[in-house]
Amino acid sequence: MYSKRYRRGMAIHVEPSGQACGATITDVDLSSPLDDDTVEAIRRAWLAHHVVAFPDQAMDDDDLERFTLYFGPFGDDPYIAPIEGRRHVIAISRRADETSPLFAQTFHSDWSFQALPPAGTCLLGITIPPVGGDTLFADQHAALDAMPVDLRSRIEGRMAIHSARGGYAPSGLYGEADQQTDRSMDIRPSDTAMATQLHPIIRVHPETGRLGLFSCIGYIIGIEGMSDADARGLLVELYQWQTRDEFVYRHRWQPGMLTMWDNRSVLHCATGGYDGHDRLLHRTTIGAR
Ligand code: SIN
Repeated sequence: MYSKRYRRGMAIHVEPSGQACGATITDVDLSSPLDDDTVEAIRRAWLAHHVVAFPDQAMDDDDLERFTLYFGPFGDDPYIAPIEGRRHVIAISRRADETSPLFAQTFHSDWSFQALPPAGTCLLGITIPPVGGDTLFADQHAALDAMPVDLRSRIEGRMAIHSARGGYAPSGLYGEADQQTDRSMDIRPSDTAMATQLHPIIRVHPETGRLGLFSCIGYIIGIEGMSDADARGLLVELYQWQTRDEFVYRHRWQPGMLTMWDNRSVLHCATGGYDGHDRLLHRTTIGAR
């Protein structure tokens, strides 16, 4: 046991990635409680850059939970069981010899099918492969700002139908068939994933007031008032626009790096390329206030 110092007035250093979004924050020790000014400085950087990474942190799960709660309540994580002894920490894991399809290898906004989707996600790198396993982030304010007028006019004022069914229903990607694979993650498919929830496709960010695109095909299964075929075509076209290279930041992980992203501003996507290496990260969800 050791005591944690309470540090006042620390000045954090924020280094933008130079890509579409993302920044690295140094000069802060997240294994200690933070004072209000430091939390506010981190919040401002998070809202400005959408993805913030803190390298070289000696954090445990208590530190991860405390950090998460600076930015909102814990969100509700359905369909993935928490790690033993914790209610709010899930493991994003893959063994070196695992053969199940990669988890989350498509752009998405976490749990966008909920009535009140989470504000953000925290992910702590524990075991990081020497190659591959980057996470991609696509800035959805930039994607909307640069969108051609014609495409924008086809989504303006439209409500998207969100659902977890494609992933977590028994017939979904992580459903009953996936339970027969050697997946190391503890995924729990359920019939509750069949539920649907409406959200505007273009949404005002509740903290910054900026307009952005919210979520994408995957968790969006249709568009209110549009035939399935028309909606699918539009959602595919939209996805291609939302995830263009110019809106994407490629995040390279290190062990001991904490990354926090804003689910209201960015989509994210896991990548592979690390077969033969273990990968383990601990994740918490920041609920909406
Ligand atoms: C996730 O979607 O939380 C996983 C991201 C990753 O594994 O890179």
